[in-house]
Amino acid sequence: MLTVAVLISGTGSNLRALLDAAADPEFPARIVVVGADREAEGFAHAEEYGIPTFMVPFARFDTREEWGAELGEQLSVWQPDLVVLSGLMRLLPAGLVDAWSPRIVNTHPAYLPEFPGAHGVRDALAAGAAQTGASVIIVDNGVDSGPILAQERVPVLPGDDEHALHERIKPVERRLLIDVVRRVATGDLDLAAASADAQL
Ligand code: GAR
Repeated sequence: MLTVAVLISGTGSNLRALLDAAADPEFPARIVVVGADREAEGFAHAEEYGIPTFMVPFARFDTREEWGAELGEQLSVWQPDLVVLSGLMRLLPAGLVDAWSPRIVNTHPAYLPEFPGAHGVRDALAAGAAQTGASVIIVDNGVDSGPILAQERVPVLPGDDEHALHERIKPVERRLLIDVVRRVATGDLDLAAASADAQL
């Protein structure tokens, strides 16, 4: 059984979908802990499932490196096989990425490498894109630049605002994320090989 730690910053709707999927005894992964960089609304989903949570508030540390070191300490307590960033709105310091790579993945609401960064949905709209998408990647030390594990297009519709478009992207993200976690758990997806292939 693959053990998973999920890191969030906000509502955690993608976390919720993963928790719901993992509640199925046939699903080959279990979420063992949920962490956040702030008092995240999404903790409620973990609590509902009786899953432990931890918080490492960014503002409490002088540097990103110190914050990342504490986050790493907290993750190490649970020894997860995989770390999922699901709406964690902070860049991780290189030390933490290097410690977990390639067993650390991120969901992003755009068809990477298009529209990386904190405002993927807003940026797609501002660019007048006819389509955007959702991606799941291995985290590397760039901004949403790691090897792509899964992605799918989502059309931008007339009248879309950021909220409407994001709400249409999220169900796609959830499906991709659940599928990636399942494939990692069953061995269908080898993260080390995916990472090595991307460096060729
Ligand atoms: C998701 O769309 C996730 O991809 C995005 O934040 C949202 C979190 O939603 N993450 C990023 O944009 C990271 N660059 P949720 O809290 O409802 O799951």
